[in-house]
Amino acid sequence: MLKILTIETTCDETAAAVVTDTLEVLGAMVASQDEFHQRFGGVVPEIASRAHLERILPIIDATLNKANISLQELDAVSVANRPGLAGALLVGLAAAKSLCLAIGKPLIAINHLQGHIYACRVAWAEKYAKNQTLSNNEHCDIFPCVGLIVSGGHTNLYRCQSPIDFELLGSTIDDAAGEAFDKVASMLGLPYPGGPAIQRAAANGDPKAYRFPRAFLDAPERLDFSFSGLKTAVRYKIAGQGQVDFSQIQLSEKEIADFAASFQEAAVDSLVGKTIHALQKTRMTTLCIGGGVAANIRFREKMEIAAKKQKIRLHIAPLHLCTDNAVMGAIAIERYHAKLFEPLDIDVHPT
Ligand code: KG4
Ligand code: ZN
Repeated sequence: MLKILTIETTCDETAAAVVTDTLEVLGAMVASQDEFHQRFGGVVPEIASRAHLERILPIIDATLNKANISLQELDAVSVANRPGLAGALLVGLAAAKSLCLAIGKPLIAINHLQGHIYACRVAWAEKYAKNQTLSNNEHCDIFPCVGLIVSGGHTNLYRCQSPIDFELLGSTIDDAAGEAFDKVASMLGLPYPGGPAIQRAAANGDPKAYRFPRAFLDAPERLDFSFSGLKTAVRYKIAGQGQVDFSQIQLSEKEIADFAASFQEAAVDSLVGKTIHALQKTRMTTLCIGGGVAANIRFREKMEIAAKKQKIRLHIAPLHLCTDNAVMGAIAIERYHAKLFEPLDIDVHPT
């Protein structure tokens, strides 16, 4: 059985996992840095790099312990070397290279975004392996598919022919969806990360209280997203135009809930609408979704309804594999089979 150690340090999670060629997860650990970045309302790159540096070796150690295997038993070491924060990526890459050098095993570099999509395959394999009762259409593999990545840094649509063949179909022309959630949360005085905070506040709000824009939904040919107009519309509705100090703005709980629900509804409608356009344009019938925003309950609900209506086979990463983790680095297994190994002088490719 093939065993690969996967390392993830692209943004603000330090994570490692040991995965096998049957996509079994032998051990996995994630150390989140939310508490360090919270008071800045977003990820501070220097703080992220330092925290990765302090945590990377203990996390790898703990992961190997959990998997109950030694370094020598590994067949390869993989790391996400793109895209992400330069200093953060460097920590993971340096650790992966050092381990490869020490144990004489090949280095595999993966694209973090492709990993987010691959999380769906790990979940699918787990379900299949556990031999749960699967409905007929779940017996097929997830590839080929349209892939949607909705995270704090990216909102991208891909045509995924295979786990090593991704073609970009469209992306956001301004803010990423998660970035919009984080910024609107900050305007509403909600904590970082904004996505879960907006979701919680929205649970008590009226999604129809304010009507916010849903970009490009009337242009099915265009496979781009835009969230900056939505964010500005929320800003104007909360505080009017001109310079504003949001800490001075007092909103009632009801107003916060209504803003959160109305914003969330608009963001979700844009994501669902453009994704359906991508499926129609490519004539593909399988959809895989990953990334932090894919954890959003309202998004999952509306996407499931739309997929059912369009007869689309839908795979959304399970909640624990939506936000950054190293289990999705199991895509390295595919690169191992394709003999896509890297020399030890490769570099990082930041955002
Ligand atoms: O994929 P991820 O963990 O990191 C990046 O690669 O960016 O995504 C983080 C993003 C953040 O913007 C966070 O606010 C958002 O995912 N997020 C959510 C939810 N949980 C996390 N957005 C909406 N609803 C959620 N439940
Ligand atoms: Zn991510």
